Amino acid sequence: MVIIRLPFLWLYSLTNAFLGTPVPSISSPSPTSQPHYTFDELYNLQVKFFDNFIYLADVTQAKSINSTLLAEDIQGRIDITRTFDGRELNTEYLFRLFANLVADPHSISLLGVLISYEILHFAANEYVTSAATRFMFNFTSLGLIIPIEIDSWNTWNKARQVTQYNRSFKYWQ
Ligand SMILES: *[C@@H]1O[C@H](CO)[C@@H](O)[C@H](O)[C@H]1NC(C)=O
Ligand SMILES: *[C@@H]1O[C@H](CO)[C@@H](O)[C@H](O)[C@H]1NC(C)=O
Ligand SMILES: *[C@@H]1O[C@H](CO)[C@@H](O)[C@H](O)[C@H]1NC(C)=O
Repeated sequence: MVIIRLPFLWLYSLTNAFLGTPVPSISSPSPTSQPHYTFDELYNLQVKFFDNFIYLADVTQAKSINSTLLAEDIQGRIDITRTFDGRELNTEYLFRLFANLVADPHSISLLGVLISYEILHFAANEYVTSAATRFMFNFTSLGLIIPIEIDSWNTWNKARQVTQYNRSFKYWQ
């Protein structure tokens, strides 16, 4: 397994242009409970989170059933259409999906095993991170390594857990 990371990293300061304006349907944590992380702290949180999606780390997370990387009341949203509430459901969605593939790589041919990633763009402010990331999947049944770009947006609590996330798949090859 080769993990190639960050050959290119463009750091963007927080701008409305990149993060967009908040959409009311995702509620903000109350101002008093919001942590105020530095940019570097947020970047490290993001990297640690993504590291746990790589094959084997994802298996460990999936086996935990309730990942401690996620807040108990985490809310997740995928491509606007699907939402997941709570730690157990989000652990299942985020980590077990990949772990199942590893347990039986030939049972599902559409998805692959995540072997590495590269953060292409990153923006962060206080408790919010936004990243455009290229994930490299090994589609073992096809014998192909395929990149998939995912835009993601996370909020973090004082326990360094993800409280909300959304992500959209930029393209499926
Ligand atoms: C995620 O949600 C935030 C706030 O609602 C929004 O600004 C952002 O564009 C969304 N990002 C994606 C990838 O869906
Ligand atoms: C995971 O969390 C849910 C909700 O809090 C709980 O019902 C369940 O028993 C937990 N499972 C494990 C294995 O900790
Ligand atoms: C992809 O998966 C196949 C089958 O498990 C394996 O032989 C190959 O080494 C993997 N490739 C990478 C780059 O991990």
